[in-house]
Amino acid sequence: MLDRLEPQAPDALLALIRLYAADPRADKIDLGVGVYRTEDGATPVFAAVKAAEQVLVDTQDSKSYLGPEGDMGMVAALMPYIFGADPTMGGRIQGMQTPGGTGAVRLALALAQKAGVKRVHMGVPSWPNHAQILADLGMELAPFDHANADGSANLDAVLAAINGAAADEAVLLHACCHNPTGIDYTAGQWARIADSFAASSTFPIIDAAYQGLGHGLEADGAGMREVLAKVPEAFIAYSCDKNFGQYRDRVGAFYVLAKEAGALDTAFSNANALARAAWSMPPDHGGAVVRIVLGDAGMTKAWLAELDDMRARMRGVRDALAAAGTAGRIDLTPLASQNGLFAMLPVTKDEVAKLREDHAIYMAASGRINIAGLTHANLPKFIAALAAVTG
Ligand SMILES: Cc1ncc(COP(=O)(O)O)c(C=O)c1O
Repeated sequence: MLDRLEPQAPDALLALIRLYAADPRADKIDLGVGVYRTEDGATPVFAAVKAAEQVLVDTQDSKSYLGPEGDMGMVAALMPYIFGADPTMGGRIQGMQTPGGTGAVRLALALAQKAGVKRVHMGVPSWPNHAQILADLGMELAPFDHANADGSANLDAVLAAINGAAADEAVLLHACCHNPTGIDYTAGQWARIADSFAASSTFPIIDAAYQGLGHGLEADGAGMREVLAKVPEAFIAYSCDKNFGQYRDRVGAFYVLAKEAGALDTAFSNANALARAAWSMPPDHGGAVVRIVLGDAGMTKAWLAELDDMRARMRGVRDALAAAGTAGRIDLTPLASQNGLFAMLPVTKDEVAKLREDHAIYMAASGRINIAGLTHANLPKFIAALAAVTG
């Protein structure tokens, strides 16, 4: 039976990790893997997370099952950060925990499909798993160009997708810190997007995987909130894996905005059934940690300060890259106005290979770089190598 299976292409980034690990050059630079790194190249556990883990170890008195909805204390504690001062929007928003942002995206798309959505419009390039999940569910992807050549977001394309979507279609947007381009919609663009959703009754699915890594929790949530304030219904897929540094503990949440509170029970009876069939219930540890952090003023303060530090470091790298102006034929100035962990450099596959072979600089073949892989120490080498290869 196994002979009937076709081999699948290996994950390109995992292959890159292996190549990087095997490279003996001392000055090698890893810009591939999508996790935050400090100036020292580490991805440490947040002190607030460590403190909450200690509380969990000391106080947890059972590891008995939770339901498919997971830790609802965590789901509720996050809501003011995501949705603002009226976190349920008058009782119209409810959520459940998921295994990471990936689980939340999967659940959002599967529930949309159950509700009749067949086709999803999405700006490309995007996080590769969006397309993979859609394909796995047998849903159609309707791609549009996310970015303009000058490094700004392509507003016309997203408005055309929203205004042109049929009744059985949805539009998926990144809330902030777009992966892989770093190109987010401006406040003015979000206002136009929200108006188009309101006027067209197209269904919005918002993927918020990096809140707090762009300009801060409030600023990064503002565009999403603008949309939610104007539409009757929406899905939000949320990840705490980046903004709490809990990557491997798989912490996410799925939220539904409904026309009225009464519609939420049916929506969540379906979401629970989908979760039950897919993963039964989410892993508890990381979700409990988020609940404990957000329930303690001191730990919350420490978490916010650590998030500020991460963001400030990435803004510093972006500013330093932009200050270099150009490297070879690559204009680095737009990077300062882009956000989050990632940026896309317009380099060819051959140039990516040359950067790796001649300069020990590792990045995805698409030209995506992890901003947090750069430090004060390795930035000059990176800029010089980019200039040498693309000049
Ligand atoms: C845009 C986007 N959505 C969702 C996710 C999923 O995150 P998680 O690691 O929490 O599953 C990622 C992770 O890279 C992402 O980039």
